[in-house]
Amino acid sequence: MSKTFYITTPIYYVNDVPHIGHAYTTIAADVIARFRRLCGDRTFFLTGTDEHGQKIERTARNSGEEPIELADRVVLRFQNLWEKLGITNDDFIRTTEERHKKAVAQIFRTIEEKGDIYLGEYEGWYDVRNEAFITETQLEEYMSLPESTRPPIEKVKEQSYFFRLSNYQAPLLDYYEKNPDFIQPSYRSNEVIRFVEGGLKDLSVSRTTFSWGIPVPGNPKHVIYVWFDALTNYIAAAGFPDDMKRFNETWPADIHLVGKDILRFHAVYWPAFLMSAGISLPRMIFAHGWWTFEGEKMSKSLGNVVDPYMVIDEFGVDVFRYFLLREIPFGQDGDYSRTAIIGRINGELANGLGNLVSRSLGMIERYFESRIPTPGSLELPDLNIKEKTIQMVKQVEESINEIEFHKALTAIWDYISIVNKYVDESAPWSLAKAGNRQRLGTVLWTLIESIRVIAILLYPFIPVSAENIWKKIGIPKRLDSQRFSSAKLWGISTPGSQITKGENLFPRHEDK
Ligand code: MSP
Repeated sequence: MSKTFYITTPIYYVNDVPHIGHAYTTIAADVIARFRRLCGDRTFFLTGTDEHGQKIERTARNSGEEPIELADRVVLRFQNLWEKLGITNDDFIRTTEERHKKAVAQIFRTIEEKGDIYLGEYEGWYDVRNEAFITETQLEEYMSLPESTRPPIEKVKEQSYFFRLSNYQAPLLDYYEKNPDFIQPSYRSNEVIRFVEGGLKDLSVSRTTFSWGIPVPGNPKHVIYVWFDALTNYIAAAGFPDDMKRFNETWPADIHLVGKDILRFHAVYWPAFLMSAGISLPRMIFAHGWWTFEGEKMSKSLGNVVDPYMVIDEFGVDVFRYFLLREIPFGQDGDYSRTAIIGRINGELANGLGNLVSRSLGMIERYFESRIPTPGSLELPDLNIKEKTIQMVKQVEESINEIEFHKALTAIWDYISIVNKYVDESAPWSLAKAGNRQRLGTVLWTLIESIRVIAILLYPFIPVSAENIWKKIGIPKRLDSQRFSSAKLWGISTPGSQITKGENLFPRHEDK
């Protein structure tokens, strides 16, 4: 059995209100999953919610609910958003599910039996908002932040289980060295390596001052630290420990997609836990950047958190997906603004892509009664388009494999410009006037071929519009049953098939 392609997003804190940052990671993972399926892979695309911990317990108590009642109620905010965004996750894991609790207890026990967990006492600071223990160095950083943005931290002194993270400094550094692609992009890898080189202290992995969590096996006064709990979701959903057959076909994860703020948990703690438990390590951890809003950090207190539902309602799902992936190189930080979105719609979606599709189909409608014409022999400009298509498809494939979405989209849009220029230069309207039907047919058929390839390539990014284009060009088989390899073939559109021009793909927007 070939290995399933396994991609994950982080599991989101269930009581957070989903925003553009959450949507970003999930859309990016969806693009990769859709692309892998086009390539013929079986995928396991996982997302879910992180439901334990002190923060959730407190929020629930404050609203007079049990934590599980709160979680059951608010988990729908995420699930509904993913549905609305066309996210094709194969599974959704909640850390309050039995399968997850079982996996956490199991890996905890395994690590304890290995001698890497011991009982001690933790005395220090804890950041409840981020569910993180604060080291001395981090404490200095915290104190240097302005009070309004500083997450509240609390002094804690309690009995705690510790994980012998200090034993894993050398094995981790050795692993990073032998697997230079493990942490991506490479500039983030250096940050992690420097952190580990600075020395690793043992990590507190249990708490006793609250109860909303998974009990430590054999000592239920303790609940397992929320990050130890949460990270385990990645193996729990893959079948560990009950369905080891599926686990072995799925694990290791091919990509853990995460935001740069939680890279350390994924690239240091998680591999150390796995090494200790004797489980193989994920193949890659990719950390993306952060979105700001019109130049400012997004935060609940500033009231400037971008609500994905509002963006979708105004512009549509595909515009949102396109904007997030096109605006900035994946990995770097970016700024969200309405003006920037409208610029992309008018310049690229409406003028570039929309215009190409509507003018091409408009001419087939007008000159060939909406039937795809039969091409004559290809001339230099047509052969040039064929050549450019092949180059572009190669570039897109490479860019998606390198997780460089903006490069893939730039390549597609550069190509769209080339094809639009080909229309201008071939001037089909003049060919029609001159009665040169054969040449006219060849040009319009070439355009249909280009549009067919564009639809396949856009399917992972903007699936609704890609399907829409596909229907317009009248290919009976569904787009999601296509293979990426058919984008590499030239000349497979069937003359005589019926096209439908229909509505424009992207209405233009005014910036109010
Ligand atoms: N529950 C943990 C993850 C556990 S994974 C085993 C968590 N959840 S979170 O809901 O706070 O954040 C989830 C993801 O959203 C992170 O990858 C984070 O980087 C991302 N983002 C949150 N705000 C963001 C932006 N403003 N911009 C981009 N991504 C951001 O952390």
